[in-house]
Amino acid sequence: MIKLNNTISELNSYLQSKKWIYEGETILSVEKPGEGNMNFTLRIVTNKRSFIIKQSRDYVEKYPQVAAPLERVLREAEFYRLINDIPQLKLMMPDLIGLDKENSVMLMDDLGKGKDYSYLYQQGEVISEEDLLTIIFFISKLHNTITSNTVEKKITNKKMRELNHEHIFKYPYVEENGINLDEILPGLQQHANILKQDEQLKKEVLELGKLYLEDGTTLLHGDYFPGSWLKTGSGVRIIDPEFCFFGIAEFEIGVTIAHLKMAEQPEETIKKALRHYKNSCPLDEELCEKFVAIEIIRRIIGLAQLPLEISLEKRVELLKGARKTLLN
Ligand SMILES: Nc1ncnc2c1ncn2[C@@H]1O[C@H](COP(=O)(O)OP(=O)(O)OP(=O)(O)O)[C@@H](O)[C@H]1O
Ligand SMILES: [Mg+2]
Repeated sequence: MIKLNNTISELNSYLQSKKWIYEGETILSVEKPGEGNMNFTLRIVTNKRSFIIKQSRDYVEKYPQVAAPLERVLREAEFYRLINDIPQLKLMMPDLIGLDKENSVMLMDDLGKGKDYSYLYQQGEVISEEDLLTIIFFISKLHNTITSNTVEKKITNKKMRELNHEHIFKYPYVEENGINLDEILPGLQQHANILKQDEQLKKEVLELGKLYLEDGTTLLHGDYFPGSWLKTGSGVRIIDPEFCFFGIAEFEIGVTIAHLKMAEQPEETIKKALRHYKNSCPLDEELCEKFVAIEIIRRIIGLAQLPLEISLEKRVELLKGARKTLLN
């Protein structure tokens, strides 16, 4: 197993060994293309073009002590292959240029130095209606076109789903899980403890977790939140489907809405996005609301924290609302 690093000469020999670099092409520079935690991801700039190289390893890049499924980039590549025949989807994602299965390395088009939509968590930042509708268009098109009826072999991505299942449905509710929430925001821990001690709530969460683990009929991106949406000079682009699987749309849309809420986007805009989605796809709204609640809880009291700027009061309000939805 080759472990890539950011040394130009070593990258050059690796790319040459794969015949992924043209004759007369030389690497001018390498840089970190943006914020990412899970994988080794680099932008390589040559005298002819620039592209992105992504390697997944059996641990989380930013936290090497945390294990992660080694071959996850191969699942991401399978997603790109499945959308290859749907122009509207393909045009909104980077092209897959190369795949090295042996070393879990993927090469893809550089979408340019756009930023992702994580800036929406900053106070006062609002997404334009046009961009949000584009984001919703992509996901509804995906859910509508790639189903178990249209593909021969479904992506199950079991290991990534198990990892996510742990972090979404279990870990946040464990009392002594090692996170001191007061370090994140003073006063938060005591509010989290209320949820951690609520047996009925935890039971409901585990029931929803079972639904997440069930194989479904619809291809999901699997991580459809602002960090997977890029704002580029040519418009909105979608990246990083490493958590993709065939599941239920309510989970996916629930995650998206949860993030719009935590980013304090206008209620009216969120409603419009949901209406837009429902215009072309079926959705069990009650179930979707439950996944909204689950995602809000895990992002506020779980390990995968966001750059949230909302106050303690607002977080507590969201947690209370989420608990109510789940106990309903
Ligand atoms: N094809 C691309 N074109 C341009 N920029 C990209 C491309 N792919 C990734 N990036 C940039 O690199 C960052 C990290 O990429 P990506 O999200 O795929 O990595 P990751 O390790 O899976 O991250 P995470 O831990 O958030 O899941 C992105 O936020 C984006 O800014
Ligand atoms: Mg990722």
